[in-house]
Amino acid sequence: MLKGVTLFGIMKNPFAYGRVVEGTDYCPRPKIEKLLAGMLESGQNVVLHGERRVGKTSLAMRAARKRRTVYVDFLACNDAGDVTERIVKAALKAANDAGFLDTALKAFASLRPKVTIDPDNGSIGATLDTHASELTIDSIEAALEKLGELHKKKAIVVILDEFQDVLRIKDERVALARMRSVIQFQGDLPYVFSGSSRDKMEMIFSDPDSPFFKSAITIEVGAHAGLSFRNFLKRKFEKTNRKVGAGLFEAIDGLGVNVTGDVQQLCWALWLLSERGGTVGVDSVDEALDMIFQIERSKYEDAVLNVSATQLKVLVALAVHGGKGVYSADFKRSSGVSVVGTITKAIQRLEALRIVYRHRNEIRFANPFFGIWVRTRFA
Ligand SMILES: Nc1ncnc2c1ncn2[C@@H]1O[C@H](COP(=O)(O)OP(=O)(O)OP(=O)(O)O)[C@@H](O)[C@H]1O
Ligand SMILES: [Mg+2]
Repeated sequence: MLKGVTLFGIMKNPFAYGRVVEGTDYCPRPKIEKLLAGMLESGQNVVLHGERRVGKTSLAMRAARKRRTVYVDFLACNDAGDVTERIVKAALKAANDAGFLDTALKAFASLRPKVTIDPDNGSIGATLDTHASELTIDSIEAALEKLGELHKKKAIVVILDEFQDVLRIKDERVALARMRSVIQFQGDLPYVFSGSSRDKMEMIFSDPDSPFFKSAITIEVGAHAGLSFRNFLKRKFEKTNRKVGAGLFEAIDGLGVNVTGDVQQLCWALWLLSERGGTVGVDSVDEALDMIFQIERSKYEDAVLNVSATQLKVLVALAVHGGKGVYSADFKRSSGVSVVGTITKAIQRLEALRIVYRHRNEIRFANPFFGIWVRTRFA
């Protein structure tokens, strides 16, 4: 019988990863939630800084859950029209969910939204009935102004996620300046700016030349670590009739898998390999890693095919030696690359490919499972 399949049917894997979590998939983070909710309450704009998959979006949604939330995702946005459309669509969706679509449609009428509603699930789609060439930075400004008008009628919270991707559009500095000029006069309408590209987010909010410099209070979101998260994971195993063996979470941590979403992903694989009534122990970790490698292998292979021989040497050394002290004698020996400039260039290329990122003085793998795979495959 397939694991995870019981006499009573298929038991759902209780671990969720790779998406925003809520409800029973969400492990509360009372302190930081309270801090963020308090700021939203007082109309304070906030920047959420944090590495990838630590739980920024889930946290923002959770802290705002008792309020009408306009959630806009700027991921890979292309131009001003795209940005405008995403803002309008998010506002209409929030309005539809909270039962004030008519009010929102009136507020956004000048941008000519064309709304479709899925008859099956009531979800809303919206495009702007305007020629793309008419949608400029002015339209972004107009859309933000409309959010302000809407807020006066029905109090809202706005989450601008993956905000750094505004930098992708043409005349991005002008766009940022105009966005800022609207947002700063919107009084108690709170904005949450979140993004997983730390350097770009810092460029927007911490560079004195940026229009958004010091325009919002920063909250650092770290990984959801510690006892409460471990107990949450443990309960998930136990509620589905699995015991957790001694030292399991310590072993996961020891592998360098300590970011919230990555830990959930490994637990997802461990659960899938486990059996009802069984114990999930340290001895299952290698098999769980193999399962993740199997799922992600083609992505990993593409990544290594995409780098030069020297970059690969540095990549393997990062996986084996770790990302601290990359100019040390040990690292040079481990990589076989002795010229500091060559190491720097290789790391820059790996950063550009988003394979690694810089965390204080350390170079880290964006995906720890890829790091472990590189180590087992090439070292
Ligand atoms: N509070 C939480 N409780 C349980 N799991 C969580 C929590 N927050 C995040 N996670 C785990 O992390 C994953 C990613 O969460 P989320 O998308 O909120 O993070 P993020 O920091 O916004 O990620 P990204 O950098 O990809 O935007 C979730 O799918 C889940 O596995
Ligand atoms: Mg996110």
